[in-house]
Amino acid sequence: MANPSLLILAGDGIGPEVMAEVRRVIDWFGANKDLTFDVSEDLVGGAAYDNHGTPLHDDTMAKAQKVDAVLLGAVGGPKYDDLDFSVKPERGLLRLRKEMDLFSNLRPAQCFDALADFSSLKKDIVSGLDIMIVRELTSGVYFGEPRGIHREGNERVGINTQRYTESEIARVARSAFELARKRSNKVCSMEKANVMESGILWRDVVQEIHDAEYPDVELSHMYADNGAMQLVRAPKQFDVIVTDNLFGDVLSDCAAMLTGSLGMLPSASLGLPMANGRPKAMYEPVHGSAPDITGQGKANPIACILSFAMALRYSFDEGAHADLLEGAVERVLADGARTADLMGPDGGTPISTTEMGDAILAALDAA
Ligand code: NAD
Ligand code: IPM
Ligand code: MN
Repeated sequence: MANPSLLILAGDGIGPEVMAEVRRVIDWFGANKDLTFDVSEDLVGGAAYDNHGTPLHDDTMAKAQKVDAVLLGAVGGPKYDDLDFSVKPERGLLRLRKEMDLFSNLRPAQCFDALADFSSLKKDIVSGLDIMIVRELTSGVYFGEPRGIHREGNERVGINTQRYTESEIARVARSAFELARKRSNKVCSMEKANVMESGILWRDVVQEIHDAEYPDVELSHMYADNGAMQLVRAPKQFDVIVTDNLFGDVLSDCAAMLTGSLGMLPSASLGLPMANGRPKAMYEPVHGSAPDITGQGKANPIACILSFAMALRYSFDEGAHADLLEGAVERVLADGARTADLMGPDGGTPISTTEMGDAILAALDAA
């Protein structure tokens, strides 16, 4: 059988720096575990704009539709701030999500024991934390029409539209309930049904899908602003959180800091099954291109490496190998390996992006 295929889109800023470490991890699995991928690389974001005048070339889009999984680094940066909105680096990422129909974005926030002291919250609030935010990724205010900036009389008006269809809500709700069944069987749905009609529909549809198909799962509803507060007050009350595109964006950055650093958070964006049974999928760290530390060897590659672990689990049914990789990450953290973003209260000397990669490969060798 042909090797599974991966398309790497490293992107901008620290994207290529963290992806270089993922490449080494992929090669390690090929050399040591008889798990070989056909890897191709292409451009996205500012890097694609610089070469092609567009943040995602049509050929790249076509390749992304064909491979078994896409691994993406990060896009964006100040160099592109003044570009026309239609060709900004972020548009490339959004096009991939939309055209691949990656409606279910899994953003786990797990606090490794070794980092429990590093959170800005007290240790007992975050230690042992393991929650999963399921963010709707292809609709809502990110894509709703009408949108734009236009003139009304003598001033400009900026417009975006929050729009959800019943079927869009239903499919992401199902994805959250399915995940919950494999975890602690608990889903909290977040919206603002108190002020938004789309929120009322969201709440109704999630409840209907629950009652009809997942009555065994414990379901609660929460207004998203309260949800943000509860995430900081008592995050361990949650197991799976399901929410819309924009609330999910904000709440997942918030959850990231519970784990010690944005540099720790991976994500999986999943769509419908392809002909081979695998879901359409893209894996990317939650963080961005981090222009403030680009080119300094300071980036933490763990979020990107853990995103590859999610690819092993969700695209390739390689749960044991995903566990192996996650275990290696846990071990290097327990042994005290720290990139600059993980300098906790005890200070210490940070290691570089490559040294963190070295440590993880050594832990894989030792496993
Ligand atoms: P950011 O995530 O790039 O950075 C926020 C802060 O976290 C910075 O101080 C950065 O140094 C730090 N940080 C992020 N990742 C880190 C890592 N792996 N290791 C160590 N420190 C890390 O967010 P931002 O500054 O708001 O955005 C910068 C650019 O990235 C923007 O153009 C934005 O649109 C883009 N962005 C892209 C993605 C993506 O590609 N998925 C996600 C978020 C932001
Ligand atoms: C994320 C990012 C993206 C988003 C941007 C870069 C388009 O913040 O993946 O969290 O807003 O979805
Ligand atoms: Mn974000």
